Amino acid sequence: MTAALPFDPARIPAAALPGLLARMPKAELHIHIEGSLEPELIFELARRNGVSLPYPSVEALRAAYAFTDLQSFLDIYYAGASVLLQPQDFYDMAWAYFERAAADQVVHAELFFDPQTHTARGVPMATVIEGLSRACADAQTKLGISSALILCFLRHLSEAEAFDTLEAALPLRQHFIGVGLDSSERGHPPEKFARVFAKCRELGLKLVAHAGEEGPPAYIWSALDVLQVQRIDHGVRSVEDAALMQRLAASRMPLTVCPLSNVKLCVYGTMAEHQLPALLDAGLCATVNSDDPAYFGGYMNANFLATFEALPQLGAQHAWQLAANSFEASFVPEAQKAQMKKALDECFASAMV
Ligand code: ADE
Ligand code: ZN
Repeated sequence: MTAALPFDPARIPAAALPGLLARMPKAELHIHIEGSLEPELIFELARRNGVSLPYPSVEALRAAYAFTDLQSFLDIYYAGASVLLQPQDFYDMAWAYFERAAADQVVHAELFFDPQTHTARGVPMATVIEGLSRACADAQTKLGISSALILCFLRHLSEAEAFDTLEAALPLRQHFIGVGLDSSERGHPPEKFARVFAKCRELGLKLVAHAGEEGPPAYIWSALDVLQVQRIDHGVRSVEDAALMQRLAASRMPLTVCPLSNVKLCVYGTMAEHQLPALLDAGLCATVNSDDPAYFGGYMNANFLATFEALPQLGAQHAWQLAANSFEASFVPEAQKAQMKKALDECFASAMV
């Protein structure tokens, strides 16, 4: 635990915690927008666009969501994204996410998108970014949610293809704040993308990367030292390396942890084994996020509730810390961070009995 608490945790009854988790303001920093495509919307877009799916029904598709590891999920996730063709499809997908985020008291969201999944099918980069950024603008005006887009490079593809993707996106530079690195982690270390990340750094883009989800702690070290990222996505395997834990804590390097994802993809056998409490107790800037909520069993509040239910050592102070961390770790101006943090403190102060 790090900052001074603005409330007395002893005055928040355990029974009040689920309600508080649900209504506290929070930021989401690790959501693949293609992972928010619910089966119903996949089928609706398939019909609208004349795309045939290898599943006969919504139920059959949902029944296929029994994953054994990251790759078994990615195969279905990329197939689901094949229904996205027009700017309106990308808008509808993101808008559905924002409505769910609003219900979960998400006040700020930074959305990953995977352009290579779409450009490889002949969908222009402008189609993807135009639809997503229109939804982001409407989220602000209609729901009061601020947001930003982060373009992810697929790490199972080559660095040359990442450079091509960057070049295609640069005319739309004003619509995204940074770049990330996702897809199959094992066998694709951060070093593979050293030069394209150096170029993005020169361009003033924010830098993040998935590391230490399935891959070893060495991938977290190289995301920090070679790619020079400003956040680590997942990073849960840092608990295996004491020196790394010390470095992450001392630098307040954020980890965007995704508890339901980690259980669904068998990083942990059960939620009770999740290492989130160890990360927080070591003083890391850990946050809770949904990753691919349509595939992993829930959005932000489902993640918070499942985590706190399975790990009874987590209390009101951890809830507050996680939300405070999400604001600290976000890429918004300091004044906006302070405003979000103030609303969080008021929420906890008013929950005391
Ligand atoms: N793409 C979508 N979800 C992902 C995850 N959890 N890890 C890596 N790449 C992803
Ligand atoms: Zn992810």
